[in-house]
Amino acid sequence: MKKILVTLVFAILPTFTLASGGSAHLDTMSPDLADQPSLQRGAATFTNYCMGCHSMKYARYERVATDLGIPLDAYEENLIFSDAKIGELMTIAMAPGQAKNWFGNPPPDLSLEGRLRGPDWLYSYMRAFYADPSRPYGVNNAVFKDVGMPHVLADLQGVCDHKPEIGAEPKVDSLSGRIISDGTCESFSTEGSMTKAEYDETIYDLVNFMVYMAEPSRMESESIGKWVLLFLIILFIPAYFLNKEYWKDVH
Ligand code: HEC
Repeated sequence: MKKILVTLVFAILPTFTLASGGSAHLDTMSPDLADQPSLQRGAATFTNYCMGCHSMKYARYERVATDLGIPLDAYEENLIFSDAKIGELMTIAMAPGQAKNWFGNPPPDLSLEGRLRGPDWLYSYMRAFYADPSRPYGVNNAVFKDVGMPHVLADLQGVCDHKPEIGAEPKVDSLSGRIISDGTCESFSTEGSMTKAEYDETIYDLVNFMVYMAEPSRMESESIGKWVLLFLIILFIPAYFLNKEYWKDVH
């Protein structure tokens, strides 16, 4: 009996730890892998702002270009900054040892990050940087405390002058019904070039792209799924009439 109890406790334990990990307050987003323009914008943001430090070493440029509907030569010209060729893996030149000295932790490969952390976490994290003079790069993050990564999109978002309340219930003006504050940053110590809505959209596209990267075949299965359903619907028509024909004389 005791053995069974112990086994049960160990079997159930991981669910609790998982639950506590996931219950941190996050803002939510629903990825849309059918939205090609969004994925293309996300790829551009990732290449311009992230690939200096983060690789996506399980992906090939060529596959990404094809999946996202970007002509190979246009991709090579605009979205590959190293001397890599279109058929190569999306690696970077930064040596992990050196990076650890600069940032405390090396920037991890982000190929699978969309699945590892999930879209809500990523969407929240990229909107959760705020000014903190005690940190080496002058910023901290409300979702990833004491993160070693600088706020690389500060010129777009600006630098928030207080810790934002990610995942907070929106405060609504009871008279007009307008949202007064949704917990994300309202005031900045350094202004960025984008409005709050524009920045949120940029991060939506970026995370959409990262979710696609973590599971490129999902895009294919989703589109095949539609054809399979259509096929079944069409097949139903002759099956229906055939069935009617067979039973005609029985009744
Ligand atoms: C200047 C280098 C640098 C750039 C540019 C950069 N990062 Fe980072 N990033 C880091 C470092 C270093 C870490 C590790 C931080 C730590 O563990 O404390 C990190 C961590 C992360 C993590 C958390 C990984 C995890 O699960 O622990 C995510 C997500 C991330 N970066 C996304 C991005 C995105 C998206 C961009 C582009 C918009 C970007 N990074 C640009 C240096 C960088």
